[in-house]
Amino acid sequence: MDRISIIKPDDWHSHLRDKDALETTVPAAMRCFKRCIIMPNLSPPVTSAESIKKYRDSILKHRPSDSDWTPLMVMYLTDNTSIECIRTAHNQGLIFGCKYYPAGATTNSASGVTDLNGLDAVFEIMQELGIPLQIHGEVTDSSVDIFDREKIFIDRHLTQIKHRFPELRIILEHITTEHSVEFVRDNDKYIAATITPQHLLFNRNDMLAGGIRPHLFCLPILKRDLHQNALIKAATSGEKKFFLGTDSAPHPRANKESACGCAGCFSHHAAIELYAQAFERAGALDQLEKFASINGAEFYGLEKNSELISLVRDPWQVPKQMDYGDSYLVPLAAGHTLNWRLET
Ligand code: DOR
Ligand code: ZN
Repeated sequence: MDRISIIKPDDWHSHLRDKDALETTVPAAMRCFKRCIIMPNLSPPVTSAESIKKYRDSILKHRPSDSDWTPLMVMYLTDNTSIECIRTAHNQGLIFGCKYYPAGATTNSASGVTDLNGLDAVFEIMQELGIPLQIHGEVTDSSVDIFDREKIFIDRHLTQIKHRFPELRIILEHITTEHSVEFVRDNDKYIAATITPQHLLFNRNDMLAGGIRPHLFCLPILKRDLHQNALIKAATSGEKKFFLGTDSAPHPRANKESACGCAGCFSHHAAIELYAQAFERAGALDQLEKFASINGAEFYGLEKNSELISLVRDPWQVPKQMDYGDSYLVPLAAGHTLNWRLET
């Protein structure tokens, strides 16, 4: 098989940043996706109808007039998010979801939530209005080992949220462990998960054995191969609860190659090719369309896209770096050979 066509995919989790970065990130997001959820962790974060509208407009300035690529905007929850704030954004058709970052968990999460119990009224109104909750599922407790933070978050917090708001649609973003796969799989239809290309293609040995590779550092951090294998199984299973979310998160090269490097992998340069690589390795290319183009739309209650994209077998080497305004990006799998290329 040297050519495959699938329904045009959507990215249910991406970071485009703002200002000059949009010159690079918007065209990259449009490359193979029709719709992208745009995460709101800017500095300052996107916390109101007004700031969402402003951010959406700045993104759309970079979309060519003949394109129907669609950014789906998300509101950043803080300890001070009010139900009025959510209602206002919802009534104006501005929000596709609300993102929960535990304060301090990751890039620009300082304004995130410190006390989950304080969000009861917010979760209540989201459940009532049918607004999905996108969760960065890690505890920030410094006594918890970084490799265990996702599991402890589920055990301590997610089970509670699920119990108290049984019909709130929840997406556990960028899952990284076998435990998360099982939690999502064994739960009801209101909970699903996204999976990134880096967590399918790499494990912590790739990042740390024989030298530290900062461009593979992301959060939640890559885990051991047992977990990578559980994620591959889930993504390639065709199960409706697992779908594509790249978590493409650009940082200038110098900010990653630093004494305290930033978390995040940029993957929009070759998003669908990276997933195709992982699916082919697992002998499951026939399941790529469900994961990339069907399951997410179904969970979010949207129509599937009507266009198709094609991938051709034509091995190519991912560039070692790319321009990013007046700095550079090292893209995910830089220097590696990918077997599939998006046909344009
Ligand atoms: O690795 C990550 N990078 N994980 C996140 O949760 C945020 C993201 C970013 O914005 O850089
Ligand atoms: Zn993210």
